[in-house]
Amino acid sequence: MNLLLFGANGQLGKAFRALAESEAFPLGWTLQALGSQDCDLSSESALRAALEGARPDVVINAAAYTAVDLAEKEQEKCESINARAPALVAQFCAERKIPLVHYSTDYVYAGAGSAERTEQEPHEPLNFYGASKARGDEAVMASGCDHLIFRTSWVFSHTGKNFVLTMLRLGAERPELKIVEDQIGSPTYAPDLAEYSLHALMRALERKLEGKGFPSGVYHLCNSGQTSWAGFARAILPNTRVIGIPSAEYPTPARRPLNSRLSLQKFIHTFGLTPRPWQEALEVCLKKVKESHG
Ligand SMILES: NC(=O)c1ccc[n+]([C@@H]2O[C@H](COP(=O)([O-])OP(=O)(O)OC[C@H]3O[C@@H](n4cnc5c(N)ncnc54)[C@H](OP(=O)(O)O)[C@@H]3O)[C@@H](O)[C@H]2O)c1
Repeated sequence: MNLLLFGANGQLGKAFRALAESEAFPLGWTLQALGSQDCDLSSESALRAALEGARPDVVINAAAYTAVDLAEKEQEKCESINARAPALVAQFCAERKIPLVHYSTDYVYAGAGSAERTEQEPHEPLNFYGASKARGDEAVMASGCDHLIFRTSWVFSHTGKNFVLTMLRLGAERPELKIVEDQIGSPTYAPDLAEYSLHALMRALERKLEGKGFPSGVYHLCNSGQTSWAGFARAILPNTRVIGIPSAEYPTPARRPLNSRLSLQKFIHTFGLTPRPWQEALEVCLKKVKESHG
């Protein structure tokens, strides 16, 4: 089984590469990981050549334009990577009859109310990044390929650009921090996301082999439990004073949803696995950060 991964150097891509080196990766499977230096997803010809050349059995698209605020300005670039590239990849997968694993975001929802969202709810993005990701999801679904779209949120890792590493840096520089308290969601550890995705892919392939059909669809997938950004910051920096503020006091070019609570029931029910709480994952992440800094 030859897996082709786009986004090799992102948080999730690196987690997949580490997973492929571990005992959890099935014997006989290989992972071919491409970064933006190997294949620029905004170039249709480069993407086609990469897909044709790799001869994959499964494609995993962990690449995305993830600069949420900058996306308001760089709309064309964002659209080509988040909407057009997934459409092309999905078309290739449909033609070759191979499955595609793709990633989506809580930002496809407007985030009204306080209830957990389910996957059936309509896309009502508040910002361009969310809208581009929604168009990518819709293209994958419309392509007819076997697909797993994992809709995740608040991704963090011991490496890369993320909230945990930003908080650790700011916490070392300042005695107190003002952090948004009215946006609620689930922090998601990239290595957990990769591991749960691999588990689900294996179950989905088994189901297809057993003649039960590939369980194509959108699945919320994040660590269990919910918090605010301020609550997340307090867990990262227990010895720093974190003052919670409303989003209105921290204006950003892109609007963000207040309620990013995602129901995990569909994923748990389909794949028989319950993601661990974000606090447990954060503990592991902080330990890894400490180790890597000696
Ligand atoms: N980060 C979050 O909080 C979050 C929340 C919800 C959903 N998601 C989704 O989860 C998935 C994984 O996110 P992540 O946090 O791992 O993202 P990330 O760390 O920002 O990594 C994204 C990767 O995409 C690559 N990429 C960007 N433009 C490209 C291009 N033109 N051609 C090829 N590769 C390109 C980047 O390459 P370079 O390294 O070379 O720049 C980067 O390695 C994405 O689908 C994202 O939308 C993320």
